[in-house]
Amino acid sequence: MENLIKKFPEGFLWGGATAANQCEGAYNEGGKGLSTADILTSGSRTAPRRITPVLEEGTYYPSHEAIDFYHRYKEDIKLFAEMGFKVFRMSIAWTRIFPNGDDAEPNEEGLKFYDNVFAELKKYNIEPLVTISHYEAPYNLTKKYNGWANRKVIDFYVKYCETIFKRYRDVVKYWLTFNEINALTMPFGTFIAGAIMPEGNGELTNSKSNNEQIRYQALHHQLVASAKAVKLGHEINKNFKIGCMIAYMCTYPLTCKPEDVLLAQQKDNLSNFLCSDVQVRGAYPGFAKRYFKENNINIVMEEDDEKTLKEGCVDFYTFSYYMSNCISSDPNQEEIGGNLSMGLKNPYLKASDWGWQIDPKGLRWTLNNIYNRYQIPIMVVENGLGAVDTVEEDGSINDDYRIEYLREHIKEMKEAIADGVDLIGYTTWGCIDLVSASTGEMEKRYGFIYVDKDNEGKGTLKRIPKKSFYWYKKVIETNGEEL
Ligand code: BG6
Repeated sequence: MENLIKKFPEGFLWGGATAANQCEGAYNEGGKGLSTADILTSGSRTAPRRITPVLEEGTYYPSHEAIDFYHRYKEDIKLFAEMGFKVFRMSIAWTRIFPNGDDAEPNEEGLKFYDNVFAELKKYNIEPLVTISHYEAPYNLTKKYNGWANRKVIDFYVKYCETIFKRYRDVVKYWLTFNEINALTMPFGTFIAGAIMPEGNGELTNSKSNNEQIRYQALHHQLVASAKAVKLGHEINKNFKIGCMIAYMCTYPLTCKPEDVLLAQQKDNLSNFLCSDVQVRGAYPGFAKRYFKENNINIVMEEDDEKTLKEGCVDFYTFSYYMSNCISSDPNQEEIGGNLSMGLKNPYLKASDWGWQIDPKGLRWTLNNIYNRYQIPIMVVENGLGAVDTVEEDGSINDDYRIEYLREHIKEMKEAIADGVDLIGYTTWGCIDLVSASTGEMEKRYGFIYVDKDNEGKGTLKRIPKKSFYWYKKVIETNGEEL
């Protein structure tokens, strides 16, 4: 059937997304402190990344140079402008502003760096969308306080927010408090999102380190911190639009067996909606309270916390969407990989080389599911295909598979808009190749722009537009009419 709408709504925010620790590099320049991301080694599809409490000589740390955006942001932003970006999602590295997290004064050189980045974006009329905390925190906060497990970190974060809200009051309008805040509902989030040193062997994906009590308490601290930031941000500039950001785990029941259907709903509630119910509606939902009770999780709250959560509701909802999984009451089903957590194989879907099942229709389902619940504006702030690219002899990169993936997802966004969903923007993940968060690889590429660098850190860092670069430019030019 022909889509009801041809183009996206006027003013639709097309763009791309990155995160500081995956692209900036310059890990010890400009007064920057060591972050949790800086002590992560690289891994691979099969070998997990390691957390090294002290930097090891001779070990390769992908964040240290990353793609050197710190020195090349002008060249990169120029390329984004050439594609016609209306918005650029980026994060601020907390450690550039407060190198140790608990410093009395911010680091001027770090603040200056983002002044320059925002000025460069302004030159091309690209709206910044800033993630305040994207999978990194000052490592000092891990060492001294065990990261977000400690309530004190709320104050450090709020001070950091106040500093950047005031400094960039007139140049940034769109903010996200935490990237994929629901990562802390999963063991994988312990270190990467919670800055909590996990027990065990230091492997990032170590499932033994699964202390729910610590994770949910840390999550509570982040939810309170997020609410405080929203309230404060609105006081500093009433025109700020501050959003939540959820890693949406689209999960289908493997069969129509009622137990499977119920499990899928419970997964949707706990993994996806627990955090956004707090951030959008301002209170923990009943199913969360039940889960805490049944699992002996005791969330320690201060007197004002409930009031704080109520007063700090977000203006819009954003999420990442890469894939879908299935769930079953039968323990003997085949597992498959995924973003943040494993799930079951869906016989109707194909998967990427990293085992992430490709499901464009799941995006339409997800958009409807979210909008039906909240009725607030939505942005898809991460979506894309991690794939190996080959540079041909003539220097071209023909990433038709990536075009295909994005085209099918954009079509489903159109469908969702026709369904009535208030979708206001789309930023594809890793619009320029960058370091993979889960594996640390460079060769798991998402970009429209190729960066000449391999998994060992070798390469010239030269930027080359891929075939998808020209395709996306056309998509933006025609406001989604020509896919
Ligand atoms: C999201 C993160 O979970 O997925 C990004 O917000 C990450 O930081 C992206 O890079 C893709 O995952 P990966 O592991 O392929 O880099």
